[in-house]
This record gives sequence, structure tokens and C-alpha cells, in this order.
Amino acid sequence: MSAFLDQIVRLDLPTCRVGRRILGFDVIDSTNTYALEHGRDGDVIVAERQTLGRGRLGRVWHSPPGLGLWFTAVLEGPWRGLQFAAALAVRDAAADRCALKVKWPNDLLLEGRKVCGILVEDRNGRVAVGIGINVHHRIEDFPEGLRGKAGSLEALTGVRWDRVDLLRNVLTHLDQNVMLLTEGRFDEVRGRWAEACALRGRAVQCGDVRGTVQAIDEDGALLIDTPAGRRRIVSGDLDIVNGDH
Ligand code: BTN
Repeated sequence: MSAFLDQIVRLDLPTCRVGRRILGFDVIDSTNTYALEHGRDGDVIVAERQTLGRGRLGRVWHSPPGLGLWFTAVLEGPWRGLQFAAALAVRDAAADRCALKVKWPNDLLLEGRKVCGILVEDRNGRVAVGIGINVHHRIEDFPEGLRGKAGSLEALTGVRWDRVDLLRNVLTHLDQNVMLLTEGRFDEVRGRWAEACALRGRAVQCGDVRGTVQAIDEDGALLIDTPAGRRRIVSGDLDIVNGDH
């Protein structure tokens, strides 16, 4: 086991639920797959490398060893709002070093480059909150096709990041948000997330839908006013028209 994983599995977290058990893998297909098949409530699955890391919309998530944080938190039970809880947790965990922006539906950007992606999936009452954070990459460490839009915390801030500290912070914030959801404070978490997305009134393009964001609904879908009427968009790749997201 790598020195990083060795530290991870011994993390003593100040959490109630998230990270009750931490499982470390040098190599795994996907931490989300493992979580959905074998996870228990409160587990966090962390891998140095994923061979089949996946992202939204059937995309591959580039997960090389030593450069990032590839992990999944498992929660059992019906859940609403975990995707919001996760995005806020990553943003807040990094907040003392940089101002990550939440880009709808659930990316975190720094200087317009994607440094984190979140994939929430569920199966048989088990929810996998998968988080990928690019930490140590130089731009040339990304596959060519990603070099124009991906970034890492280290490349973009110019300072050294510690993956163990960052993971500890993310899990602590995630646990706090999960506790809010458990207490029925969904609206508060969703509201903070919607505010972080800062999309209300913005002109956007998502696929062939172009218009102005009127609101973000309960499920995080965008309600976009277009010349042809209102459209509800659940997922996709969003561009802010004339914006700098
Ligand atoms: C996206 O932006 O498309 C979501 C990317 C999610 C990647 C993470 S890495 C850990 C977990 N395991 C996976 O296979 N995917 C998620």
C-alpha cells in the first residue's frame, strides 16, 4: 500500500457518519462501482488509481496514480441533496487556499478550468458520492484532449497541496452537510448550492437550448426561459453566454 493510502486508512476524522470506515486501494476499476457493490453506510473508498474511473454522461474520468484524490463516500437510505452537499464540501474544504466556483451541474472550477468532478449514483438503496479532485497534475499530465479545460489545484494556485489534509477537510465538510440533510435541512443545503452556482438571470446555452436561467428547481434542474417557452434541463454541458464561469 502506498504511503498516502497508509495515512488515509488511519485517518481519525471528527465526523459522525462519513468515513466511519476508510478503505484504500492501490488500483481499482472505479471507487463508485466498488461502493455500489460492496459499500456500507459511512464507508469511504479511496484509490490511488482507477482503471475505469467514470464521469457524467458516460465519460471516462482520468485517474492516474499519485496525482489526485479519487474517492467515494457511501450512504444508505433514500437521499435528496447529496450532490449539493458534495459540491459545497469540496468548495469549502479548499476555501482557505482558493476560491473554487461551482459550475452547474456539479463541477468545481478554478480560473475556468475543471479541477473536480462529482458523480452521485444509487443502486439498491445505496448511494455512492464519487468525487475526483485533480491535485498535483501539471497540464502535460492530462490527456491531450483535456489540456484546454482541465486543471489541478497545484498548477492553478502555484502552492503545494497535501492530499491527506484535503481529503480530511472534504470528508469533514461532507459529513456536516450530510448531517444537515439528515436533520431535514435540505432547502438550506440546496439554497447554498444554488447560490454558489450563481446562474439566476444568466444567459446560457446547454446543448441546443439557449435562454435565460429563471431558477434552479428542487432537483437541481435548470429552468430556462427560451423564445420557444420554458425548458427544464436536468443535465448537460453548460456554457454561460458572454460569461467567464
Ligand atoms: C464528472 O465530472 O463527470 C464526474 C467525475 C467523477 C469522478 C469520480 S473519481 C471517484 C469516483 N469514481 C468514479 O469512477 N468516478 C468518481
